Amino acid sequence: MPSFRVETPGRCYSAIVERGAAGRVAEFLPPKRGKVFVISTEDVWRHQGALMAASLRDVPHELLHLPGGEEQKRLAHVEALAESMVERGGDRSSLVVAFGGGIVTDMAGFLAAIFMRGIPVIQVPTTLLAQVDASVGGKTGVNLQCGKNLVGAFHQPLAVLIDPALIETLPDREYRAGLWEIVKAGMIHEVELFHFLAEHSTDVLARHADAVDRIIADSVRMKCEVVSGDEREADRRRILNFGHTFGHALEAETAYRRFLHGEAVAFGMRAAIWLGERTGNVSAEDSVEMLEQIELYGPIPPLDGISAGNLLARLVHDKKTVRGKVHFVLPVRIGEVRIVTGIDEKVVLEAIRFALS
Ligand SMILES: NC(=O)c1ccc[n+]([C@@H]2O[C@H](COP(=O)([O-])OP(=O)(O)OC[C@H]3O[C@@H](n4cnc5c(N)ncnc54)[C@H](O)[C@@H]3O)[C@@H](O)[C@H]2O)c1
Ligand SMILES: [Zn+2]
Repeated sequence: MPSFRVETPGRCYSAIVERGAAGRVAEFLPPKRGKVFVISTEDVWRHQGALMAASLRDVPHELLHLPGGEEQKRLAHVEALAESMVERGGDRSSLVVAFGGGIVTDMAGFLAAIFMRGIPVIQVPTTLLAQVDASVGGKTGVNLQCGKNLVGAFHQPLAVLIDPALIETLPDREYRAGLWEIVKAGMIHEVELFHFLAEHSTDVLARHADAVDRIIADSVRMKCEVVSGDEREADRRRILNFGHTFGHALEAETAYRRFLHGEAVAFGMRAAIWLGERTGNVSAEDSVEMLEQIELYGPIPPLDGISAGNLLARLVHDKKTVRGKVHFVLPVRIGEVRIVTGIDEKVVLEAIRFALS
């Protein structure tokens, strides 16, 4: 099964995509190390904890739980965990195993980034979204009252162990939300993945192992490649934000409660594809094919009652706005996008209206 390298100035490591990878954590622990802390949530542990416990059968470790949920992705919980780690003998030689969805990979990753000024973390993601996105690339952090992911650090893991079998217990809505990031990967960089998703939607939606393993591996390879070239999102990594400028506005407008992240990204990709065509960046044929793929993996939950004007206002304030300019990631053709600035707000508003319709 595939293993992909991430090479950043700070650290080089592997992301392994393999059924059974979650059972191999012990192999990836450095021989000289202090206490191992497994960080998870009660929900994840109920579904998949036995596997992690078996993986660390012969390794002394402590299990600590975070509360789940986006509204709990807060600094106070990171602080409380750090206190618990010290109470249990944690020190500079300790190591964190992050076992959960994107909430856990972000929070436990951040804890590892700042505990004793930085200790290693092994990421073992358990949701589809975390497997193809959050666990790879070293972005960690928590939310502030006034916005998402506003406090954080880049902290590359020691390894990422991606076990597609873990997502068998994932609720359907969470699985489908994760698929949108895979659809994104096809559209921005992976033509073959795009065509596979177009032709095999039944297998993908039914979670047939061969299809699931393949789409996860393709997405992880893409993410590893892009992150290796640009760890800190100075340039190339920005292509990963396809659908996210509009998507973040929708998430914020609905207080992060009504849509899952991937669902908001699907909405955002519709807007970006429309905008790409309207501004002459992508052909009508490619735009239709891409919109059809979004339909195929839909539906996006109902978007009624959302104001296009409010979304536009939020978009202008997105933290990815650089020096007052909104950067849009727009399609050029299937498998390729480019960054475009300086689009007339009226046209952007039309794109939002299209995506809401
Ligand atoms: N750092 C990054 O690069 C990056 C990228 C994308 C997203 N994120 C972050 O990821 C977070 C969202 O992550 P998420 O969508 O994984 O949400 P999540 O971590 O809340 O998990 C979703 C739900 O699935 C449950 N769950 C997890 N694994 C399960 C399993 N195997 N079986 C059954 N249930 C399981 C969880 O308990 C939770 O209820 C957001 O906070 C977002 O900001 C970070
Ligand atoms: Zn995303």
